Amino acid sequence: MSNETARGRLAELENTLETIATASPSGLAELRNEILGRKAGKLTHLLRSLGELPPEERREIGAAANILKGRIEAAIEKRTAECESADSAVGQSEDLAMPARTLWRGNRHPVTVVVDEICEIFKELGFTRVVGPEVETDEYNFTKLNIPLDHPAADMHDTFYLSPGVLLRTHTSPMQAHTMEKYQPPIRIVVPGQVYRRDPFDPSHSPVFEQIEGLAVDEGITFVDFKAGIDYFVKAFFSKDTKVRFRPSFFPFTEPSAEIDVGCPLCKGSGCSTCKHTGFMEIMGAGMVHPTVFDRCGVDSEKYTGYAYGMGPHRITMIRHGIPDIRLLYENDMRFLGQFVE
Ligand code: DAH
Repeated sequence: MSNETARGRLAELENTLETIATASPSGLAELRNEILGRKAGKLTHLLRSLGELPPEERREIGAAANILKGRIEAAIEKRTAECESADSAVGQSEDLAMPARTLWRGNRHPVTVVVDEICEIFKELGFTRVVGPEVETDEYNFTKLNIPLDHPAADMHDTFYLSPGVLLRTHTSPMQAHTMEKYQPPIRIVVPGQVYRRDPFDPSHSPVFEQIEGLAVDEGITFVDFKAGIDYFVKAFFSKDTKVRFRPSFFPFTEPSAEIDVGCPLCKGSGCSTCKHTGFMEIMGAGMVHPTVFDRCGVDSEKYTGYAYGMGPHRITMIRHGIPDIRLLYENDMRFLGQFVE
């Protein structure tokens, strides 16, 4: 080794001081080995080779190398301490008592759960789930269902018209007409979907809400089949001991018509504020399909009979959970929806 080589190596090793100052803990270990390692350390090797230099140079370069060794050792020690204190600072900022973050999981809306359950129950009775358009003509929404356009029932539905004769459906009943026109009996369908009415958004109304329509048409369907079908549904959906009451009513598309009440599932019929102390809650309108509807939809009313029903899953969800205000079902507030995690 010449003088020149020795000085060059010292200068090179001096440059590593900068690298050491910012090294990571694993980087430090490597640097220590590379420079000071007992076997292959560059500085160790340099010190061992001092004997190859002429005596005058040996002393000077030897002194410089020893000073540099001290500086490198000190720099490594300093950087090691820095890394350790940064580590323990991280340790101090961790709050091990902090509760774990809630893991949000996707979930069906409580109204969707009710819609799916209702359709499943009717599926057991042979009903097929179908959907229809939300934009309808007044012919399908009203006329084919035996609702004259000047009839108060058309008023009652307070319609959103999009253009003359074209409207947002006010009920799912138009799918009765579409299905009967397209398919010959036997027909058994359930039709979930959104319907629209010019209603205020208040605790018991919404301008858009869910309905489920049902229609069964076949030869020889009687009022007994109708009652049995509805009774089966109510007991499967609420509970086996739920009372079912058929109250005479009027709908233009059914004859006779009924409104169906169930024993209040909250107070079991003893009377509470939700059922207004009557012990019953209305859950749907229904009846035997009016022959005029069959005639207007191309079904032979001499040959076939049937029953139909329409219910509101929002209302049924409110009854099921004792929810006092329909608007809660539209706000999508996680504090509310989080209570219905399945
Ligand atoms: N379409 C009616 C409404 O929206 C509900 C209804 C009543 C549907 C009786 C029916 C039925 O199928 O038979 O108020």
